[in-house]
Amino acid sequence: MSWDAIVLAAGDGTRMLSKLPKVLHKVAGQPMIERTIEALNEAGATNIHVVVSQKILNDLLYIKTIFKNVFFHIQNQPLGTADAVYSVKASLSEYVLICNGDHPLVNAKDILHFIDQAQLSNSDLNLALLELSDPSSFGRVIQSKNSKVDEIIEAKHCSPEQLKICIVNSGIYYSRSDLLFEFLKATLVSRDVEAEFKTASKKEYYLTDIVKFLNSKGYNVSGFTTSDDMGFGVNDSLALAQANQKAYLKINQRLMQNGVKLISPETTYIEGSVQIDADVLIYPNVFIFGASKVEVGSIIESGSHIKNSKLGPHTLIKAGSYLEGAKVLGHSSIGPYAHLREGAVIHPNVKVGNFAEVKNSILFKGVKAGHQCYLGDAEIGENTNIGAGTITCNFAADGKKYQTKIGKNVFIGSDTQIVPPIVIEDDSVIAAGATVTKNVEAKSLYVTRAKAFVKQNYRK
Ligand code: UD1
Ligand code: MG
Repeated sequence: MSWDAIVLAAGDGTRMLSKLPKVLHKVAGQPMIERTIEALNEAGATNIHVVVSQKILNDLLYIKTIFKNVFFHIQNQPLGTADAVYSVKASLSEYVLICNGDHPLVNAKDILHFIDQAQLSNSDLNLALLELSDPSSFGRVIQSKNSKVDEIIEAKHCSPEQLKICIVNSGIYYSRSDLLFEFLKATLVSRDVEAEFKTASKKEYYLTDIVKFLNSKGYNVSGFTTSDDMGFGVNDSLALAQANQKAYLKINQRLMQNGVKLISPETTYIEGSVQIDADVLIYPNVFIFGASKVEVGSIIESGSHIKNSKLGPHTLIKAGSYLEGAKVLGHSSIGPYAHLREGAVIHPNVKVGNFAEVKNSILFKGVKAGHQCYLGDAEIGENTNIGAGTITCNFAADGKKYQTKIGKNVFIGSDTQIVPPIVIEDDSVIAAGATVTKNVEAKSLYVTRAKAFVKQNYRK
């Protein structure tokens, strides 16, 4: 049976105490709302109607380029979850699944299980419920018999007795679309917001009131216990951190099932977009983000951040290294404390050592750049040795960047400054402490060194 989804994401999220709208906060690297939409799409929603406030619409338009079946609807004022659903101006399939946009752990498997239960029940409205030892601000579920639900009462309107109820509303509903709109019409069409909210203790129109409404008309409302993940709502920073922990752990569990070795899955942070081969070993406190790939036999030591980078087989990333937009083709050792930036391409059997920074440069096979150095806009030939403290001065006084080309088997002595545009040909030697401003021919020695002298008995 086809069904549409409605995602509610127009609330102010005041409890987050943040300038960033709640549903844009990231969980395992993805905005919460994107995760919800992704899960609903995977579960087979025909169309996904997302209710947002005008102020976040522009930030979300990119989602339409990923999911063609997503439609945004504006809620002008955050007048509650019922008002949010009422903002959907579209004709819907016979059934609709409504989901709060602040549930970043919803997943296709659990959604489909809930829909199966709902369809078997033949009820007009079905609720995904949770049993919580600490139900805090969740709406309490009032049940008289079996799986039938009589009413949902929001925590702030509960009596002390009702607050003790541990069965709560998860914020996910599967309903006949026509009855949903019957409820919305009855509650919202001829309303007078100012008059109604002036003295009332509640200042929002609650979607949860649909339960009492349908029961009063003789319709059937059922509830089914769902997974903790489906029901995990994020309202504050604490819950956001917990959602991140859970989401990262889930990714890690999948990776470990595929043979990736994690020493401490609780403290390893890998986004869902990252591909990692079996027999990669990852130490604690490692972060791997974006379109990154790590191939077989690689080892990543603690404190390393790897973003949008590719690591070929048997790459060793030593502790504290930072890689962004880099390609290491494999069988090389990077770090400790190395920085590979955008456009760094490291061929096999290369050693990039501590406090070395490489940007937009190719280091061919066998290059050694073992100690503090900066290699930017450079091409460095096979088996060349870069001495400690070497710097390519790629950024010139005219504000432009220039290229350095160094050939094969070159020996660059320590503390050398290379001033491009420049070519240093194969088999040449640059003596330590040089400032290289002229091209160097193959097999030559290049020296710039003031003559040393020793003045005896200098200090009295
Ligand atoms: C809601 C439920 C509560 C349930 C809990 C589960 C209501 C009245 N209460 O409470 O029973 O236990 O979720 O997490 O529905 N939103 C709008 N427009 C608004 C208000 C909210 O789009 O005017 C959106 C929010 O962006 C959010 C979702 O609806 O994604 C839920 O709103 P929130 O304020 O978080 O409701 P809860 O207090 O969590
Ligand atoms: Mg919430």
